[in-house]
Amino acid sequence: MSCLTNPNLFQFVACPQCGGDLIEDSTSLYCNQCSSKFEVMRGIPLLYPSGMDPVHLYEEENLAAMMKSDRLTPKEKFSAAQWEFSKQEFWSMVERNIQPPSKAFINIGCGYDNNFSKIQNMGNTFINFDMVYKMLFELQDKFKAKSCVAGDITNLPFKKGKLDYVISIDVLHHESEKLTAILVSFRDLLKNGGILFLEDPNAWGIFQMAKSIFLPIPVYRRLRSIYHRIRKSSHRPADYESPTNVWGVVAILKKLGFEDIKVYPHIAYPCISKTSYQLYKALSTFDFIRKFHNYHYMISATKC
Ligand SMILES: C[S@@+](CC[C@H](N)C(=O)[O-])C[C@H]1O[C@@H](n2cnc3c(N)ncnc32)[C@H](O)[C@@H]1O
Ligand SMILES: [Zn+2]
Repeated sequence: MSCLTNPNLFQFVACPQCGGDLIEDSTSLYCNQCSSKFEVMRGIPLLYPSGMDPVHLYEEENLAAMMKSDRLTPKEKFSAAQWEFSKQEFWSMVERNIQPPSKAFINIGCGYDNNFSKIQNMGNTFINFDMVYKMLFELQDKFKAKSCVAGDITNLPFKKGKLDYVISIDVLHHESEKLTAILVSFRDLLKNGGILFLEDPNAWGIFQMAKSIFLPIPVYRRLRSIYHRIRKSSHRPADYESPTNVWGVVAILKKLGFEDIKVYPHIAYPCISKTSYQLYKALSTFDFIRKFHNYHYMISATKC
């Protein structure tokens, strides 16, 4: 019997250090090239690279705990509903773009997102990938996720060219300094003709733009940290988080040879008050605003 919940994962996983094939003994995995050993917990392989930053993992575990905390103020409740709505817009866009028959998907930095289950139930392989393995336990236990892998986005432990769809929502801003390298690795995971779906906070969001233009990133991060501490916010971003911008991401995708790059309009706008939302709604009669100046950008791009 395999130590993995889903032994079919062997078609997809690879050593995060050297890209070699992984083989199993009764309780763990080994790389047949560099002999690195990887733990398996509750049937989930923990494919962390040896040089992974422990502070990053610690911060992400804290953020995962914060995601579970209740949002209390009316503004926070309004914002949480907008987050939820934004996710619905994203997943409907994904569903409109996917084609039968059965395909292979990955959600990179999946967190607690259980939207995979509909796609998994349609007979597709759906890999949930995150740095924080406790979130994967929850997807496995509560939502019957069949394929979960823990690891680091900066050393993706997967074979190249095996996936039809790569999804990543709200993760790039956690690794914005490595943006190009991460988009290269997303491209490499895809088969030719495969599609990348991205959603992430947009530095050019209508209410974010002034900060992006006038505050150098280190100053912005420092002020944001002070603001959240004073307000005792229920969700405090890690100091290394910073939004990327839709134009920059589109330019990188073009340079990497992606085609049919589409930016989709968003109606939801999280992290603002109801009054600011009314202003956004008025401005968003322009399709351009909903696509390029929303809090999030939402992009699909095809690997050729
Ligand atoms: C803001 S949450 C978004 C979660 C999920 N995609 C969603 O939409 O609900 C960011 C996620 O990225 C994960 N993450 C951050 N840095 C990562 C890294 N270096 N490697 C893998 N996952 C990472 C976090 O653990 C977290 O689950
Ligand atoms: Zn190896």
